[in-house]
Amino acid sequence: MPIRVLCVAGARPNFVKIAPILRAFRTRPRFAARLVHTGQHYDDLLSRVFFDELDIPRPDLELAIGSGTHAAQTAEILRRFEAVLVAEQPHVVLVVGDVNSTIGCALAAAKLFLDEPFRFRGARRRRPVIVHVEAGLRSFDDDMPEEVNRKLTDAIADVLYVSEPSGVANLRREGVAEERIVFVGNVMIDTLLAARERARGAPVLDELGLRPRSYAVLTLHRPSNVDDPAVLAKLLDALDRLAADLPIVFPVHPRTRTRMRDRGIALEPPRWRVLDPLGYIEFLKVMSEARVVLTDSGGIQEETTVLGVPCVTLRDSTERPVTVDEGTNRLAGTDGATIAARVAEALAAPAPAHAPRLWDGHAAERLVAHLAGELGVRLP
Ligand code: UD1
Repeated sequence: MPIRVLCVAGARPNFVKIAPILRAFRTRPRFAARLVHTGQHYDDLLSRVFFDELDIPRPDLELAIGSGTHAAQTAEILRRFEAVLVAEQPHVVLVVGDVNSTIGCALAAAKLFLDEPFRFRGARRRRPVIVHVEAGLRSFDDDMPEEVNRKLTDAIADVLYVSEPSGVANLRREGVAEERIVFVGNVMIDTLLAARERARGAPVLDELGLRPRSYAVLTLHRPSNVDDPAVLAKLLDALDRLAADLPIVFPVHPRTRTRMRDRGIALEPPRWRVLDPLGYIEFLKVMSEARVVLTDSGGIQEETTVLGVPCVTLRDSTERPVTVDEGTNRLAGTDGATIAARVAEALAAPAPAHAPRLWDGHAAERLVAHLAGELGVRLP
């Protein structure tokens, strides 16, 4: 009998992480892996483009939960995913990252009893095994909704696949048993390395009239940066001064776009190139050729590390410290003078491309091989 796995993805960064995992499961016939799309992100530009470009098979199940407050969105995920669990009877539920879909689906799975028992770590088991990919990351900032999602998901997951050494240290400090902690590397970097050649040939710079290394890239979507219109306006004003020297390419997340519209913020060309969200391949190309990347995203801190592009993070903390210790990342917070100083440092002394340990393109394969062992499945 195959091991039934439900892989969950809901929001843009999840699609990038789930792609290599699904591929690795599907080369192993002992696993029957199905993909559940919660629909937390539903716009084509945040969702469908990624399926097309990353060759992710169409989702087997779509929950179409849409947007809402945290409670409403999470409640809807719980309700709809529970029905899927009852129908599908999965042995394994795999969640990635730190979005509301991650904790919602993990929590529904944690309380479900299956019709038939199976074996896990040599013992009889009635509940799905919960697997968290990108476990152990901590920003130590509970004002971030993602931090709450990370801590709660790690607390109920059976297997915690970690992407960088800080994740192992954090979980140990929290008293998590060693057998649950497994350092496999970074699945997001699996996707980047697989797509890099294709991105090299993408015509997007010509289409946008940009020359390599002659612009900065900005992404912004953290609630702490964009939800308060005064904070957002101040931040963009500070960045506008930088844009006088180095034009800023700004693909705008829908959350940020709405706030800018509400506040009547307009960013003027040619200093600014305000764009809709880009697809994965186009964004990878634009990011690879930038002088500097300014961001509040987590994944982009990792991607710029591997690409060797200076990154200035517009937050006071990072849950990905390896990108600062070993990579190209500098924390700047949101103060204009500090951002300007960090950008100047980054431009003066760019760090070389660097791959932290196990960011080698094979994290998903290691993950599937390890999980097979835990389930007593022999892989050829
Ligand atoms: C979510 C994640 C965040 C992740 C980010 C990546 C949580 C708590 N947050 O933030 O960790 O880094 O995704 O993008 O899970 N909207 C659209 N189209 C969509 C989806 C959303 O227009 O397809 C708009 C809606 O107005 C919505 C707003 O964007 O209210 C925010 O979406 P939401 O899913 O709540 O969170 P994100 O800010 O995208």
